[in-house]
Amino acid sequence: MEIYILTLFPEMVTDALSHSIVGRAAASGKLRIHALNIRDYSTDAHKKVDDYPYGGGAGMVMFCQPIYDCVNAAKEMSGGDAPVIYMSPQGERFDQGIAKELSGNQSIILLCGHYEGIDERVIEEVVDRQISIGDYVLTGGELAAMVVADAVARLVPGVLHNDQSAAGESFENDLLEYPQYTRPRVWRDREVPEILLSGDHAKVDAWRYEQSVERTKRLRPDLLREG
Ligand code: ADE
Repeated sequence: MEIYILTLFPEMVTDALSHSIVGRAAASGKLRIHALNIRDYSTDAHKKVDDYPYGGGAGMVMFCQPIYDCVNAAKEMSGGDAPVIYMSPQGERFDQGIAKELSGNQSIILLCGHYEGIDERVIEEVVDRQISIGDYVLTGGELAAMVVADAVARLVPGVLHNDQSAAGESFENDLLEYPQYTRPRVWRDREVPEILLSGDHAKVDAWRYEQSVERTKRLRPDLLREG
């Protein structure tokens, strides 16, 4: 899968996505992260990308041309039909379901805004979908794009070594994940639940399911009501 991130701060995203599981997936070629610098596409002599807002008000607005050209370049590189997603607090709320949906694409394009936002006309012209990572305002879309890229990347087949890891975890089937334990068996007088040492896989599975349901009821009852 290919993830294009269009930003004024490409190093911010390439650095953050070069570690651990996502970094390894990128190194192995299962995943390609392309960070495109929107400024490189500005035709302005000084590589300007923003201007004062019509109607006045605080801050600057990113103008259409560099964004439009950068999106078109990403589309061309990706082979054509990648959805263009604008990271915005006005978008639909990101969740595991959207992550799954996006992971089904061969390529996705994540557009990061900055300053007071981007000219509405370029949103109308090129954006297919707007996604928010929560009800708070970030200084730019980069952190949000990284969140989306990370959540999507780990759903790409082969990125997690064990396909079971994505299947049993939080939000699958609208349940939170069961508690995990590793050695030592006793730590500061706290023992690993006996059943996990039993070797009885059916019992272990049943116990884990019960734990998931109990946790979800206690910590996130809204997930059960939604389902
Ligand atoms: N850009 C600024 N705030 C954001 C948010 N909450 N989600 C996605 N993109 C954003």
